[in-house]
Amino acid sequence: GITRHYKFDIKLKNVTRLCHTKSIVTVNGQFPGPRIIAREGDRVVVKVVNHVQNNVTIHWHGVRQLQSGWADGPAYVTQCPIQTGQTYVYNFTIVGQRGTLFWHAHISWLRSTIYGPLVILPKRNIAYPFAQPYKEVPIIFGEWWNVDTEAVISQALQTGGGPNVSDSYTINGLPGLLYNCSAKDTFKLKVKPGKTYLLRLINAALNDELFFSIANHTFTVVEADAVYVKPFHTDTLLITPGQTTNILLKAKPHFPNATFLMAARPYVTGLGTFDNSSTAGILEYEPPSVSSSSTISIKKLPLFKPTLPPLNDTSMATNFTKRFRSLANAQFPANVPQTVNKRFFFTVGLGSNPCPQNQTCQGPNGTKFAASVNNISFLMPTTALLQAHFFGRSNGVYTTDFPNNPLVPFNYTGTPPNNTLVSNGTKVVQLPFNTSVELVMQDTSILGAESHPLHLHGFNFFVVGQGFGNFDSKKDPAKFNLVDPVERNTVGVPSGGWVAIRFLADNPGVWFMHCHLEVHTSWGLKMAWVVQDGKLPNQKLPPPPSDLPKC
Ligand code: C2O
Repeated sequence: GITRHYKFDIKLKNVTRLCHTKSIVTVNGQFPGPRIIAREGDRVVVKVVNHVQNNVTIHWHGVRQLQSGWADGPAYVTQCPIQTGQTYVYNFTIVGQRGTLFWHAHISWLRSTIYGPLVILPKRNIAYPFAQPYKEVPIIFGEWWNVDTEAVISQALQTGGGPNVSDSYTINGLPGLLYNCSAKDTFKLKVKPGKTYLLRLINAALNDELFFSIANHTFTVVEADAVYVKPFHTDTLLITPGQTTNILLKAKPHFPNATFLMAARPYVTGLGTFDNSSTAGILEYEPPSVSSSSTISIKKLPLFKPTLPPLNDTSMATNFTKRFRSLANAQFPANVPQTVNKRFFFTVGLGSNPCPQNQTCQGPNGTKFAASVNNISFLMPTTALLQAHFFGRSNGVYTTDFPNNPLVPFNYTGTPPNNTLVSNGTKVVQLPFNTSVELVMQDTSILGAESHPLHLHGFNFFVVGQGFGNFDSKKDPAKFNLVDPVERNTVGVPSGGWVAIRFLADNPGVWFMHCHLEVHTSWGLKMAWVVQDGKLPNQKLPPPPSDLPKC
Protein backbone atom coordinates (compact mmCIF):
# COMPACT_ATOMS: atom_id res chain seq x y z
CA GLY A 1 0.00 0.00 0.00
CA ILE A 2 0.86 3.67 -0.19
CA THR A 3 0.57 6.45 2.36
CA ARG A 4 -2.23 8.97 1.94
CA HIS A 5 -1.88 12.33 3.66
CA TYR A 6 -4.79 14.52 4.67
CA LYS A 7 -5.00 17.73 6.65
CA PHE A 8 -8.06 18.52 8.76
CA ASP A 9 -8.27 22.14 9.88
CA ILE A 10 -10.99 22.33 12.50
CA LYS A 11 -12.62 25.71 12.01
CA LEU A 12 -15.89 27.59 12.23
CA LYS A 13 -18.08 28.19 9.24
CA ASN A 14 -21.42 29.95 8.81
CA VAL A 15 -23.91 27.55 7.28
CA THR A 16 -27.55 28.20 6.37
CA ARG A 17 -30.19 25.48 6.35
CA LEU A 18 -33.99 25.82 6.68
CA CYS A 19 -33.49 29.62 6.56
CA HIS A 20 -31.41 29.58 9.76
CA THR A 21 -27.77 30.57 9.69
CA LYS A 22 -25.44 29.37 12.39
CA SER A 23 -21.75 29.07 12.95
CA ILE A 24 -20.75 25.41 13.05
CA VAL A 25 -17.54 23.55 13.75
CA THR A 26 -16.29 21.96 10.52
CA VAL A 27 -13.33 20.28 8.93
CA ASN A 28 -11.74 22.64 6.39
CA GLY A 29 -14.93 24.73 6.29
CA GLN A 30 -16.77 21.88 4.57
CA PHE A 31 -20.14 20.49 5.62
CA PRO A 32 -20.33 17.51 5.41
CA GLY A 33 -16.59 17.11 5.69
CA PRO A 34 -14.12 15.96 3.02
CA ARG A 35 -14.14 12.44 1.66
CA ILE A 36 -11.21 10.23 2.61
CA ILE A 37 -10.26 7.67 -0.01
CA ALA A 38 -7.76 4.87 0.43
CA ARG A 39 -7.18 1.36 -0.76
CA GLU A 40 -7.06 -1.72 1.39
CA GLY A 41 -3.50 -1.94 2.71
CA ASP A 42 -2.82 1.81 2.53
CA ARG A 43 -1.61 3.90 5.42
CA VAL A 44 -3.75 6.94 6.21
CA VAL A 45 -2.15 9.93 7.92
CA VAL A 46 -4.45 12.75 8.95
CA LYS A 47 -3.03 15.86 10.57
CA VAL A 48 -5.76 17.49 12.66
CA VAL A 49 -5.23 21.10 13.70
CA ASN A 50 -7.76 22.58 16.11
CA HIS A 51 -8.48 26.26 15.46
CA VAL A 52 -11.70 26.46 17.52
CA GLN A 53 -12.57 26.87 21.18
CA ASN A 54 -14.12 23.37 21.46
CA ASN A 55 -12.02 20.36 22.30
CA VAL A 56 -12.00 17.90 19.39
CA THR A 57 -11.16 14.30 18.54
CA ILE A 58 -11.80 12.34 15.32
CA HIS A 59 -12.87 8.68 15.15
CA TRP A 60 -12.44 6.50 12.05
CA HIS A 61 -15.63 4.60 12.51
CA GLY A 62 -15.29 0.92 11.67
CA VAL A 63 -11.55 0.99 10.93
CA ARG A 64 -10.16 -1.91 12.92
CA GLN A 65 -7.07 -0.03 14.09
CA LEU A 66 -5.01 -3.20 14.43
CA GLN A 67 -2.28 -2.27 16.91
CA SER A 68 -2.96 1.41 16.27
CA GLY A 69 -5.41 2.01 19.11
CA TRP A 70 -3.88 5.46 19.74
CA ALA A 71 -5.48 6.58 16.48
CA ASP A 72 -9.01 5.37 17.26
CA GLY A 73 -10.21 8.70 18.60
CA PRO A 74 -12.98 8.50 21.23
CA ALA A 75 -12.29 11.26 23.77
CA TYR A 76 -11.14 10.05 27.19
CA VAL A 77 -11.08 6.46 25.92
CA THR A 78 -8.06 6.30 23.59
CA GLN A 79 -6.90 9.88 23.84
CA CYS A 80 -7.30 13.19 25.59
CA PRO A 81 -8.99 15.80 23.40
CA ILE A 82 -7.08 18.00 20.97
CA GLN A 83 -7.35 21.41 22.61
CA THR A 84 -7.46 24.83 20.99
CA GLY A 85 -4.29 25.45 19.00
CA GLN A 86 -3.10 21.86 19.29
CA THR A 87 -2.32 19.34 16.55
CA TYR A 88 -2.58 15.56 16.55
CA VAL A 89 -1.67 13.24 13.70
CA TYR A 90 -3.84 10.13 13.29
CA ASN A 91 -1.79 7.41 11.68
CA PHE A 92 -3.22 4.02 10.83
CA THR A 93 -3.11 1.28 8.22
CA ILE A 94 -6.20 -0.28 6.73
CA VAL A 95 -5.78 -4.03 7.04
CA GLY A 96 -8.18 -6.56 5.56
CA GLN A 97 -11.03 -4.12 5.03
CA ARG A 98 -12.61 -2.60 1.95
CA GLY A 99 -15.90 -0.80 1.51
CA THR A 100 -17.66 2.20 2.98
CA LEU A 101 -17.01 3.58 6.45
CA PHE A 102 -17.06 7.12 7.78
CA TRP A 103 -15.23 9.40 10.15
CA HIS A 104 -16.72 11.70 12.76
CA ALA A 105 -15.87 13.81 15.79
CA HIS A 106 -16.01 11.71 18.96
CA ILE A 107 -16.57 14.15 21.76
CA SER A 108 -19.84 15.52 23.09
CA TRP A 109 -22.22 16.15 20.16
CA LEU A 110 -19.68 17.62 17.74
CA ARG A 111 -20.29 14.81 15.30
CA SER A 112 -23.51 16.61 14.34
CA THR A 113 -21.36 18.77 12.03
CA ILE A 114 -17.99 17.00 11.89
CA TYR A 115 -18.39 13.92 9.74
CA GLY A 116 -17.57 12.63 6.28
CA PRO A 117 -17.25 9.47 4.17
CA LEU A 118 -14.28 7.12 4.39
CA VAL A 119 -14.10 5.05 1.23
CA ILE A 120 -11.81 2.04 1.12
CA LEU A 121 -11.31 0.68 -2.38
CA PRO A 122 -10.12 -2.89 -2.95
CA LYS A 123 -6.42 -3.39 -3.60
CA ARG A 124 -5.28 -2.39 -7.06
CA ASN A 125 -6.36 -4.90 -9.74
CA ILE A 126 -8.79 -6.60 -7.37
CA ALA A 127 -12.38 -6.34 -8.57
CA TYR A 128 -15.56 -6.07 -6.57
CA PRO A 129 -17.42 -9.38 -6.19
CA PHE A 130 -20.19 -7.75 -8.24
CA ALA A 131 -20.40 -5.97 -11.59
CA GLN A 132 -18.17 -2.91 -11.75
CA PRO A 133 -20.49 0.11 -11.30
CA TYR A 134 -20.51 2.97 -13.78
CA LYS A 135 -20.21 5.47 -10.90
CA GLU A 136 -19.88 5.50 -7.12
CA VAL A 137 -21.75 8.02 -4.99
CA PRO A 138 -21.55 8.51 -1.21
CA ILE A 139 -24.91 9.32 0.40
CA ILE A 140 -24.42 10.38 3.99
CA PHE A 141 -27.43 10.95 6.22
CA GLY A 142 -27.23 13.49 9.01
CA GLU A 143 -29.33 15.69 11.25
CA TRP A 144 -29.57 19.44 11.37
CA TRP A 145 -30.50 21.59 14.36
CA ASN A 146 -31.27 25.28 13.86
CA VAL A 147 -29.67 25.91 17.25
CA ASP A 148 -26.25 24.98 18.61
CA THR A 149 -26.16 21.24 19.30
CA GLU A 150 -23.66 21.61 22.15
CA ALA A 151 -26.24 23.78 23.92
CA VAL A 152 -28.96 21.19 23.21
CA ILE A 153 -27.11 18.37 24.92
CA SER A 154 -25.67 20.38 27.80
CA GLN A 155 -29.14 21.65 28.66
CA ALA A 156 -30.57 18.12 28.53
CA LEU A 157 -27.86 16.82 30.82
CA GLN A 158 -28.41 19.66 33.30
CA THR A 159 -32.16 19.17 33.50
CA GLY A 160 -32.09 15.39 33.30
CA GLY A 161 -34.67 15.49 30.50
CA GLY A 162 -34.62 14.64 26.82
CA PRO A 163 -32.82 16.92 24.36
CA ASN A 164 -34.73 18.79 21.68
CA VAL A 165 -35.10 16.78 18.52
CA SER A 166 -33.41 17.98 15.35
CA ASP A 167 -35.14 20.25 12.84
CA SER A 168 -34.42 18.02 9.87
CA TYR A 169 -32.65 14.98 8.58
CA THR A 170 -30.21 15.58 5.77
CA ILE A 171 -28.75 13.85 2.73
CA ASN A 172 -25.16 14.97 2.13
CA GLY A 173 -25.84 17.90 4.45
CA LEU A 174 -29.03 18.98 2.66
CA PRO A 175 -32.52 18.69 4.21
CA GLY A 176 -34.23 18.57 0.83
CA LEU A 177 -37.41 19.81 -0.78
CA LEU A 178 -39.94 18.31 1.63
CA TYR A 179 -38.95 20.77 4.36
CA ASN A 180 -39.98 24.40 4.43
CA CYS A 181 -37.42 26.79 3.09
CA SER A 182 -35.23 24.03 1.78
CA ALA A 183 -36.12 23.34 -1.87
CA LYS A 184 -32.83 24.73 -3.12
CA ASP A 185 -30.95 22.61 -0.59
CA THR A 186 -31.80 19.28 -2.20
CA PHE A 187 -29.28 16.62 -3.08
CA LYS A 188 -29.54 15.68 -6.74
CA LEU A 189 -28.15 12.56 -8.37
CA LYS A 190 -28.12 12.57 -12.16
CA VAL A 191 -28.16 9.13 -13.70
CA LYS A 192 -27.79 7.80 -17.22
CA PRO A 193 -30.42 5.30 -18.34
CA GLY A 194 -29.29 1.69 -18.08
CA LYS A 195 -26.17 2.39 -16.02
CA THR A 196 -25.41 0.86 -12.61
CA TYR A 197 -24.52 3.07 -9.65
CA LEU A 198 -22.90 2.06 -6.39
CA LEU A 199 -24.50 4.13 -3.65
CA ARG A 200 -22.44 4.21 -0.48
CA LEU A 201 -25.03 4.88 2.24
CA ILE A 202 -23.83 6.10 5.62
CA ASN A 203 -26.01 6.92 8.60
CA ALA A 204 -24.24 9.72 10.45
CA ALA A 205 -27.46 11.00 12.06
CA LEU A 206 -27.19 11.51 15.80
CA ASN A 207 -30.33 9.96 17.15
CA ASP A 208 -32.37 8.09 14.58
CA GLU A 209 -32.40 4.88 12.64
CA LEU A 210 -33.66 5.61 9.15
CA PHE A 211 -35.75 3.88 6.54
CA PHE A 212 -34.62 4.71 3.00
CA SER A 213 -36.29 4.19 -0.34
CA ILE A 214 -36.19 5.46 -3.94
CA ALA A 215 -39.49 5.87 -5.78
CA ASN A 216 -40.18 3.15 -8.38
CA HIS A 217 -36.75 1.56 -7.95
CA THR A 218 -35.38 -1.51 -6.29
CA PHE A 219 -31.76 -2.00 -5.45
CA THR A 220 -29.30 -4.71 -4.48
CA VAL A 221 -27.57 -4.68 -1.11
CA VAL A 222 -23.96 -5.81 -1.56
CA GLU A 223 -22.07 -4.68 1.52
CA ALA A 224 -22.54 -3.64 5.14
CA ASP A 225 -20.03 -1.94 7.43
CA ALA A 226 -17.25 -2.50 4.88
CA VAL A 227 -17.85 -6.23 4.57
CA TYR A 228 -19.36 -7.79 1.44
CA VAL A 229 -22.65 -9.60 1.94
CA LYS A 230 -24.60 -12.09 -0.14
CA PRO A 231 -26.43 -9.77 -2.54
CA PHE A 232 -30.18 -9.34 -2.00
CA HIS A 233 -32.86 -7.17 -3.56
CA THR A 234 -35.10 -4.77 -1.72
CA ASP A 235 -37.01 -1.54 -2.31
CA THR A 236 -36.61 -0.22 1.23
CA LEU A 237 -33.81 -0.45 3.70
CA LEU A 238 -33.11 0.34 7.32
CA ILE A 239 -29.83 1.88 8.39
CA THR A 240 -28.97 2.69 11.99
CA PRO A 241 -26.61 5.43 13.09
CA GLY A 242 -23.12 3.99 12.78
CA GLN A 243 -24.03 1.59 9.98
CA THR A 244 -23.00 1.81 6.34
CA THR A 245 -24.66 -0.04 3.47
CA ASN A 246 -23.57 -0.28 -0.15
CA ILE A 247 -26.30 -0.76 -2.71
CA LEU A 248 -26.28 -1.18 -6.46
CA LEU A 249 -28.88 0.88 -8.24
CA LYS A 250 -29.53 0.03 -11.86
CA ALA A 251 -31.05 2.97 -13.69
CA LYS A 252 -34.04 2.04 -15.82
CA PRO A 253 -33.33 1.70 -19.55
CA HIS A 254 -35.57 4.45 -20.94
CA PHE A 255 -36.58 7.27 -18.69
CA PRO A 256 -35.44 10.53 -20.23
CA ASN A 257 -35.96 13.54 -18.00
CA ALA A 258 -37.92 11.69 -15.33
CA THR A 259 -37.31 12.56 -11.72
CA PHE A 260 -37.77 10.33 -8.68
CA LEU A 261 -37.52 11.15 -5.01
CA MET A 262 -35.20 9.26 -2.71
CA ALA A 263 -36.22 9.75 0.89
CA ALA A 264 -35.33 8.76 4.42
CA ARG A 265 -37.26 9.05 7.61
CA PRO A 266 -36.92 7.53 11.07
CA TYR A 267 -37.74 4.15 12.49
CA VAL A 268 -38.83 5.03 16.01
CA THR A 269 -39.49 2.67 18.90
CA GLY A 270 -40.32 3.32 22.53
CA LEU A 271 -39.30 6.62 24.00
CA GLY A 272 -37.09 7.47 21.04
CA THR A 273 -36.81 10.91 19.69
CA PHE A 274 -39.81 11.45 17.49
CA ASP A 275 -39.74 13.36 14.28
CA ASN A 276 -42.26 12.85 11.56
CA SER A 277 -40.46 14.46 8.66
CA SER A 278 -38.41 13.10 5.80
CA THR A 279 -35.26 14.17 4.09
CA ALA A 280 -35.38 13.80 0.33
CA GLY A 281 -33.09 13.94 -2.64
CA ILE A 282 -33.77 13.73 -6.33
CA LEU A 283 -32.80 11.02 -8.77
CA GLU A 284 -32.86 12.64 -12.16
CA TYR A 285 -32.53 10.80 -15.46
CA GLU A 286 -30.40 12.59 -17.98
CA PRO A 287 -31.95 13.39 -21.32
CA PRO A 288 -30.92 11.09 -24.17
CA SER A 289 -27.67 12.06 -25.84
CA VAL A 290 -27.71 15.35 -27.75
CA SER A 291 -27.69 13.77 -31.18
CA SER A 292 -30.92 11.88 -30.58
CA SER A 293 -32.71 14.55 -28.55
CA SER A 294 -31.82 17.80 -30.25
CA THR A 295 -34.81 17.65 -32.52
CA ILE A 296 -37.25 16.01 -30.12
CA SER A 297 -38.75 18.00 -27.27
CA ILE A 298 -39.33 15.88 -24.21
CA LYS A 299 -42.10 16.67 -21.80
CA LYS A 300 -41.02 16.59 -18.16
CA LEU A 301 -42.48 13.63 -16.36
CA PRO A 302 -43.98 14.11 -12.89
CA LEU A 303 -41.96 13.65 -9.71
CA PHE A 304 -42.46 10.15 -8.34
CA LYS A 305 -42.51 9.73 -4.57
CA PRO A 306 -41.56 6.62 -2.57
CA THR A 307 -43.62 5.18 0.24
CA LEU A 308 -41.74 4.53 3.43
CA PRO A 309 -42.75 2.12 6.21
CA PRO A 310 -44.65 3.45 9.22
CA LEU A 311 -42.37 4.98 11.85
CA ASN A 312 -42.74 2.06 14.26
CA ASP A 313 -42.57 -0.77 11.71
CA THR A 314 -40.53 -3.21 13.78
CA SER A 315 -41.44 -6.18 11.60
CA MET A 316 -40.05 -4.46 8.51
CA ALA A 317 -36.93 -3.57 10.50
CA THR A 318 -36.51 -7.13 11.74
CA ASN A 319 -37.18 -8.85 8.45
CA PHE A 320 -34.78 -6.56 6.65
CA THR A 321 -32.04 -7.01 9.23
CA LYS A 322 -32.32 -10.80 9.08
CA ARG A 323 -31.50 -10.86 5.37
CA PHE A 324 -27.84 -9.93 5.81
CA ARG A 325 -25.42 -12.83 5.36
CA SER A 326 -21.66 -12.93 4.95
CA LEU A 327 -20.36 -14.04 1.58
CA ALA A 328 -18.57 -16.86 3.40
CA ASN A 329 -16.72 -18.11 0.34
CA ALA A 330 -13.10 -19.01 -0.36
CA GLN A 331 -12.08 -15.45 -1.21
CA PHE A 332 -14.07 -13.84 1.61
CA PRO A 333 -14.42 -16.42 4.36
CA ALA A 334 -16.49 -15.78 7.48
CA ASN A 335 -14.10 -16.48 10.34
CA VAL A 336 -16.82 -16.98 12.92
CA PRO A 337 -15.38 -18.09 16.26
CA GLN A 338 -16.66 -21.64 16.61
CA THR A 339 -15.71 -22.00 20.24
CA VAL A 340 -16.18 -19.47 23.02
CA ASN A 341 -13.83 -18.70 25.92
CA LYS A 342 -15.99 -16.17 27.65
CA ARG A 343 -19.74 -15.47 27.63
CA PHE A 344 -21.32 -12.16 28.57
CA PHE A 345 -24.92 -11.12 28.99
CA PHE A 346 -25.52 -7.36 28.97
CA THR A 347 -28.80 -5.59 29.44
CA VAL A 348 -28.96 -2.37 27.48
CA GLY A 349 -31.60 0.22 28.04
CA LEU A 350 -32.86 3.38 29.56
CA GLY A 351 -33.35 3.89 33.27
CA SER A 352 -33.10 6.82 35.59
CA ASN A 353 -31.27 8.22 38.55
CA PRO A 354 -32.74 10.16 41.48
CA CYS A 355 -32.86 13.89 40.95
CA PRO A 356 -30.15 15.69 42.95
CA GLN A 357 -31.48 17.77 45.84
CA ASN A 358 -32.33 21.40 45.08
CA GLN A 359 -32.84 20.56 41.43
CA THR A 360 -35.92 19.83 39.40
CA CYS A 361 -35.45 17.09 36.85
CA GLN A 362 -37.36 16.66 33.64
CA GLY A 363 -36.87 12.90 33.34
CA PRO A 364 -39.54 10.26 34.10
CA ASN A 365 -41.45 11.03 37.35
CA GLY A 366 -39.08 13.86 38.17
CA THR A 367 -35.93 11.72 37.91
CA LYS A 368 -32.90 12.12 35.65
CA PHE A 369 -32.61 10.00 32.53
CA ALA A 370 -29.72 7.57 32.72
CA ALA A 371 -28.94 4.87 30.18
CA SER A 372 -26.92 1.86 31.15
CA VAL A 373 -25.34 -1.49 30.36
CA ASN A 374 -26.07 -4.04 33.11
CA ASN A 375 -27.51 -1.11 35.05
CA ILE A 376 -24.18 0.67 35.09
CA SER A 377 -24.14 4.10 33.59
CA PHE A 378 -20.62 4.76 32.34
CA LEU A 379 -18.85 7.81 33.76
CA MET A 380 -16.22 9.26 31.46
CA PRO A 381 -12.85 9.59 33.21
CA THR A 382 -10.92 12.85 33.12
CA THR A 383 -7.90 11.19 31.56
CA ALA A 384 -7.77 8.64 28.72
CA LEU A 385 -8.39 4.98 29.60
CA LEU A 386 -5.83 3.76 27.08
CA GLN A 387 -3.03 5.81 28.60
CA ALA A 388 -3.96 4.63 32.08
CA HIS A 389 -3.92 1.03 30.84
CA PHE A 390 -0.73 1.28 28.80
CA PHE A 391 1.29 2.95 31.56
CA GLY A 392 -0.16 0.76 34.32
CA ARG A 393 -1.88 3.68 36.01
CA SER A 394 -5.48 2.50 36.11
CA ASN A 395 -5.80 3.28 39.84
CA GLY A 396 -8.37 5.99 40.28
CA VAL A 397 -9.18 6.00 36.56
CA TYR A 398 -11.14 2.79 36.03
CA THR A 399 -11.98 -0.50 37.70
CA THR A 400 -12.12 -3.92 36.03
CA ASP A 401 -15.26 -5.13 37.80
CA PHE A 402 -17.77 -4.61 35.02
CA PRO A 403 -20.34 -7.37 35.64
CA ASN A 404 -20.54 -10.26 33.14
CA ASN A 405 -24.28 -10.54 33.82
CA PRO A 406 -27.02 -8.32 35.24
CA LEU A 407 -26.54 -8.28 39.01
CA VAL A 408 -30.22 -9.00 39.66
CA PRO A 409 -31.99 -10.88 36.85
CA PHE A 410 -35.53 -9.71 36.10
CA ASN A 411 -38.14 -10.06 33.41
CA TYR A 412 -36.30 -7.87 30.91
CA THR A 413 -39.13 -7.42 28.45
CA GLY A 414 -42.09 -7.64 30.81
CA THR A 415 -44.07 -4.86 32.44
CA PRO A 416 -41.54 -2.24 33.37
CA PRO A 417 -40.14 -3.38 36.74
CA ASN A 418 -39.32 -0.90 39.46
CA ASN A 419 -35.57 -1.47 39.74
CA THR A 420 -34.96 1.61 37.66
CA LEU A 421 -32.01 2.59 39.79
CA VAL A 422 -28.84 2.87 37.82
CA SER A 423 -25.40 3.10 39.40
CA ASN A 424 -22.59 5.13 37.93
CA GLY A 425 -19.04 3.98 37.40
CA THR A 426 -16.03 3.80 35.11
CA LYS A 427 -15.96 0.02 34.89
CA VAL A 428 -14.39 -2.06 32.13
CA VAL A 429 -14.11 -5.71 31.15
CA GLN A 430 -10.53 -6.95 30.90
CA LEU A 431 -9.85 -9.66 28.32
CA PRO A 432 -6.70 -11.69 27.78
CA PHE A 433 -5.37 -11.45 24.21
CA ASN A 434 -7.24 -13.68 21.74
CA THR A 435 -10.22 -14.37 23.99
CA SER A 436 -13.12 -15.64 21.93
CA VAL A 437 -16.11 -13.65 23.18
CA GLU A 438 -19.82 -14.31 22.93
CA LEU A 439 -21.96 -11.39 23.99
CA VAL A 440 -25.74 -11.38 24.23
CA MET A 441 -27.25 -7.93 24.43
CA GLN A 442 -30.76 -7.80 25.80
CA ASP A 443 -32.99 -4.76 25.41
CA THR A 444 -34.88 -3.97 28.59
CA SER A 445 -38.23 -2.32 28.99
CA ILE A 446 -37.34 -0.53 32.20
CA LEU A 447 -38.65 2.63 30.60
CA GLY A 448 -40.23 1.00 27.56
CA ALA A 449 -38.62 -1.16 24.89
CA GLU A 450 -36.35 0.59 22.45
CA SER A 451 -33.99 -0.39 19.67
CA HIS A 452 -30.32 0.42 20.36
CA PRO A 453 -27.67 0.41 17.63
CA LEU A 454 -24.64 -0.87 19.55
CA HIS A 455 -21.24 -0.05 18.07
CA LEU A 456 -18.00 -1.77 19.02
CA HIS A 457 -14.67 -0.07 18.35
CA GLY A 458 -11.59 -2.02 17.25
CA PHE A 459 -13.41 -5.11 15.98
CA ASN A 460 -15.91 -6.50 13.57
CA PHE A 461 -18.24 -9.01 15.16
CA PHE A 462 -20.51 -11.70 13.77
CA VAL A 463 -24.23 -11.40 14.48
CA VAL A 464 -24.95 -15.05 15.27
CA GLY A 465 -28.50 -14.70 16.59
CA GLN A 466 -31.35 -12.39 17.39
CA GLY A 467 -34.87 -12.70 18.74
CA PHE A 468 -37.71 -11.10 20.64
CA GLY A 469 -38.56 -11.43 24.31
CA ASN A 470 -36.07 -12.61 26.91
CA PHE A 471 -32.99 -14.46 25.68
CA ASP A 472 -33.19 -18.12 26.65
CA SER A 473 -29.68 -19.42 27.31
CA LYS A 474 -30.94 -23.04 27.11
CA LYS A 475 -32.81 -22.91 23.81
CA ASP A 476 -31.61 -19.95 21.76
CA PRO A 477 -27.90 -20.82 21.25
CA ALA A 478 -28.92 -23.98 19.35
CA LYS A 479 -30.32 -21.69 16.64
CA PHE A 480 -27.20 -19.57 16.24
CA ASN A 481 -25.82 -19.17 12.72
CA LEU A 482 -22.13 -20.04 12.87
CA VAL A 483 -21.79 -20.50 9.11
CA ASP A 484 -22.52 -17.24 7.32
CA PRO A 485 -23.67 -14.63 9.88
CA VAL A 486 -23.21 -11.01 8.88
CA GLU A 487 -19.99 -9.39 10.05
CA ARG A 488 -20.28 -5.76 11.12
CA ASN A 489 -19.35 -3.08 13.64
CA THR A 490 -22.82 -1.78 14.58
CA VAL A 491 -25.90 -3.88 15.28
CA GLY A 492 -29.41 -2.91 16.30
CA VAL A 493 -30.42 -4.59 19.56
CA PRO A 494 -34.08 -5.11 18.68
CA SER A 495 -36.74 -3.28 20.61
CA GLY A 496 -38.04 -5.79 23.16
CA GLY A 497 -35.53 -8.44 22.11
CA TRP A 498 -31.90 -9.50 22.06
CA VAL A 499 -28.98 -9.99 19.75
CA ALA A 500 -25.98 -12.33 20.10
CA ILE A 501 -22.55 -11.50 18.69
CA ARG A 502 -19.17 -13.20 18.64
CA PHE A 503 -15.73 -11.70 18.18
CA LEU A 504 -12.12 -12.60 18.72
CA ALA A 505 -10.28 -10.16 21.00
CA ASP A 506 -7.16 -10.09 18.83
CA ASN A 507 -6.54 -6.34 18.99
CA PRO A 508 -4.73 -5.07 22.09
CA GLY A 509 -5.97 -1.78 23.45
CA VAL A 510 -9.00 -0.16 25.02
CA TRP A 511 -12.13 -0.39 22.94
CA PHE A 512 -15.26 1.61 23.46
CA MET A 513 -18.68 0.05 23.00
CA HIS A 514 -21.76 2.23 23.02
CA CYS A 515 -25.18 2.94 21.63
CA HIS A 516 -24.74 5.03 18.49
CA LEU A 517 -27.81 7.07 19.37
CA GLU A 518 -25.85 10.01 20.71
CA VAL A 519 -28.42 10.89 23.35
CA HIS A 520 -28.15 7.39 24.85
CA THR A 521 -24.36 7.60 24.85
CA SER A 522 -24.61 10.92 26.66
CA TRP A 523 -26.86 9.26 29.26
CA GLY A 524 -24.29 6.52 29.86
CA LEU A 525 -25.12 3.63 27.50
CA LYS A 526 -21.46 2.82 26.97
CA MET A 527 -18.63 0.72 28.40
CA ALA A 528 -15.13 -0.35 27.42
CA TRP A 529 -13.16 -3.53 26.83
CA VAL A 530 -9.50 -3.64 27.79
CA VAL A 531 -7.74 -6.20 25.60
CA GLN A 532 -4.35 -7.13 27.02
CA ASP A 533 -1.19 -7.60 24.99
CA GLY A 534 -0.32 -11.04 23.69
CA LYS A 535 3.11 -12.61 24.12
CA LEU A 536 4.49 -12.12 20.61
CA PRO A 537 5.84 -8.75 19.46
CA ASN A 538 3.11 -8.41 16.85
CA GLN A 539 0.48 -8.93 19.55
CA LYS A 540 1.39 -5.85 21.54
CA LEU A 541 0.16 -2.29 21.42
CA PRO A 542 3.10 -0.04 20.48
CA PRO A 543 3.83 3.05 22.62
CA PRO A 544 1.81 6.22 21.90
CA PRO A 545 2.95 8.77 19.32
CA SER A 546 4.83 11.69 20.84
CA ASP A 547 2.13 14.22 19.92
CA LEU A 548 -0.65 12.36 21.76
CA PRO A 549 -2.63 15.14 23.50
CA LYS A 550 -2.50 15.47 27.28
CA CYS A 551 -5.53 16.06 29.46
CU1 C2O B 1 -19.14 6.09 15.34
CU2 C2O B 1 -17.81 5.41 19.09
O1 C2O B 1 -18.46 5.81 17.23
